[in-house]
Amino acid sequence: MNKAVIAATGATLLLGGCNQAAQAPEMTAQQLMAKEVQPTAEIYWNAVQFISDETGDHDVFPKTDAEWKAVQDAAVKLGKLGEQLKTPGFSEGRGQDWIQFSDSLIEVSKLAEQAAAERNTDKVFEVGGTIYSVCSACHQMYPPATGAGTEERPGDDAA
Ligand code: HEC
Repeated sequence: MNKAVIAATGATLLLGGCNQAAQAPEMTAQQLMAKEVQPTAEIYWNAVQFISDETGDHDVFPKTDAEWKAVQDAAVKLGKLGEQLKTPGFSEGRGQDWIQFSDSLIEVSKLAEQAAAERNTDKVFEVGGTIYSVCSACHQMYPPATGAGTEERPGDDAA
C-alpha cells in the first residue's frame, strides 16, 4: 500500500516538473495531495505512535522542543492546505460539500495545533484519528483515481 503512494508521488513529481510553489494555480488537487497534504499529515501521524509487538512496547512521541514544533507546524500547515482547497483552483466544479470537507480539515487542524502546543501525546494521537476521518470523508465523495490516499493511517497498523 505504501508502495502505491510512493509510486504515485514519484509520478506526480515527474509530471510536475520543476518544483512549483504550493500556491501555483496550475497545481492539481492530486499534486497538492501527494506533495503537500499527505507528507504534512504523515508528520503529524508519525509523531505519536503506540506500537506493541512481540518484543514489547515501542511508543513514539516527540522529545525535544524542535520535534514538538515540527508537529505543531504540520498542524498549522494542514489548516493552510484546507484554506487552499477552498480556493477556486481546487473547489471549482465541486459541490458545496467540498467546502465543508475543507472546513473540517481547517477545524481539525486547530485541535491538532492545540494538542501539539499542549504537548499532550494522547490528544495528538486522538486528533490524528479525527484528521484521518476528515481525509477519508472527502475521499469517499471524491475518490482518488490512483487509489492512493485510501490506505490506513500510519501507526494504526502496528499490533
Ligand atoms: C476537500 C477534499 C479532500 C480532503 C479534505 C482531503 N483530500 Fe486527499 N484527495 C482529494 C481528491 C479530490 C483527490 C483525488 C485527486 C485526483 O486523483 O484527481 C485526493 C487524493 C489524495 C491522495 C492521492 C494522491 C495521488 O498521488 O494520487 C492522497 C495521498 C491524499 N489525497 C491524502 C489526503 C490526506 C492525508 C488528507 C487529510 C489530511 C486528505 N487527502 C484530505 C480530496 C481531498
